[in-house]
Amino acid sequence: MSGQARSPVCALRSVGKQFGPVVACEGISIELFAGEAVALAGENGAGKSTTAKCLYGYYSPTAGHIEVDGQEATLRSPRDGEAAGIVVIPQELDLFPELSIVENMFMGQERPRTKIGTFDWGRMKKTAQDILARLGLRLDVSLPVKLLSAANCKLVEIARALNRNARVIIMDEPTAALTDREVRRLLSIVCDLKAQGVAVVYISHRLDEIFEVCDRIVVLRDGKTVGDKPTSEFTESSLVKMMVGRPLESLFTHSPHPTGAVALEVKSLTSSPSFRDVSFQLRRGEILGISGLIGAGRSELAHALFGLRPYSGQILVDGTETKVRSVSDAFANGIAYLPEERRSQGLILPFSIQENISLASLGRFTRFGLVSDKKESDFAHKAANDFTVVGAGIDAAVSVLSGGNQQKVLIAKTLARNPRIIILDEPTRGVDVGAKSEIYKIIDDLARQGCAVLLISSELNEVLAMSDRILVMREGVAVQTFERNEFSPEAIGAAAAGQKVVSDVA
Ligand SMILES: Nc1ncnc2c1ncn2[C@@H]1O[C@H](COP(=O)(O)OP(=O)(O)OP(=O)(O)O)[C@@H](O)[C@H]1O
Ligand SMILES: [Mg+2]
Repeated sequence: MSGQARSPVCALRSVGKQFGPVVACEGISIELFAGEAVALAGENGAGKSTTAKCLYGYYSPTAGHIEVDGQEATLRSPRDGEAAGIVVIPQELDLFPELSIVENMFMGQERPRTKIGTFDWGRMKKTAQDILARLGLRLDVSLPVKLLSAANCKLVEIARALNRNARVIIMDEPTAALTDREVRRLLSIVCDLKAQGVAVVYISHRLDEIFEVCDRIVVLRDGKTVGDKPTSEFTESSLVKMMVGRPLESLFTHSPHPTGAVALEVKSLTSSPSFRDVSFQLRRGEILGISGLIGAGRSELAHALFGLRPYSGQILVDGTETKVRSVSDAFANGIAYLPEERRSQGLILPFSIQENISLASLGRFTRFGLVSDKKESDFAHKAANDFTVVGAGIDAAVSVLSGGNQQKVLIAKTLARNPRIIILDEPTRGVDVGAKSEIYKIIDDLARQGCAVLLISSELNEVLAMSDRILVMREGVAVQTFERNEFSPEAIGAAAAGQKVVSDVA
């Protein structure tokens, strides 16, 4: 596909980036050709984002250089990158919450003007609307971004990049926050972009996506390139082996766990406008998956159960009606929550790994009201080890960790309280295959120890493999519950999309 005789649009030549003593990547040479999608694959902390950041001018490499059209280019900022036609959809959300969708989409860009010289907002809105419509999002583009869900923010970021007429688009985990339907749209857009001659750099932990749209795969391990071959020369297991450095036998763990008494019961739970009349039971030792499309109300349901959102209806814990009006009410009832948006909801970025993990469980470490440093650090050490958090020591600020490693810190933090009921909202988002299988083992263990687990996930494979039952939500309503022997991707997908007439409304 990629005529090697052609010259690359741009290239990394022996690029390296060091942060003090930490070598994030070194000796990276990658050529990018028009119309070709190249995957950057590797475990959390392998150096994918850092490599990408060197390419679009976010970082100046500490070794090697970037080449654009065969010429060495010095990119001092993402703005320089954009001027050279290299645009990014970053891994972490990067929008101005107070500004509108259209303002965000035209931020830092030449804005069209009317005949009398004022900004032509009418035209900008039309353009913004058209691009979002291609992504399947129909929204008033004058709404401030802060009103959007995490998934819709991601779609706005993708739209912003598409609005730049780039020659090279770097997508760093673009689908981590999306559900299947949006993922399908994005992948078809990647194919359109290739057909238009754009070079795409695609970073994802979802290997099926890589196999679907990428022509070539570059594998990074410990900051170095360990493979660069056409996709057709890889199989999923050979790719995993190259990434992890060893074969991975099984991704999912689902052992039979006896279920006990009902730990959590929800009756006619309603929180307008997000969800209404939701009822279900969750037993000790049971994993209840919640599936649905973006906007189905799943995270909002989690927020209500965790005291972050007012509700009407009943929440019963161990058979007793409980008012969950605040996070401390939730904690008092043994409920813990792993939020989907780690940066804004879960972690305090400037704080260290240790502080983040132990903050959640203050009280577990206090004697006479003081935090016991020793116990705190023992626990954080164990937690960091359990999750093989890669990076500097546990005193390092969470902000310097790679995206997937931040997620692991967040999980350790959530478990630090020994919850009896745990709500996991997209627990493996942005996490590499090795760590995913560790997280699945942990979820399975929790259930076996009698914890009641609510698993919200947009990855259908994940909910199917891990859950004992699946509740499907659509447009704020619990439409159907499936027992494990009724599971199939088609049945769940159809219920989520409302393609089948559902007779038994929960
Ligand atoms: N600003 C920084 N300061 C110090 N170390 C950093 C910084 N940025 C990245 N690192 C380190 O460099 C290594 C590579 O990080 P990078 O974010 O590139 O990984 P990644 O492959 O994108 O991982 P993920 O899949 O988790 O997103 C990690 O060990 C990370 O902790
Ligand atoms: Mg990354």
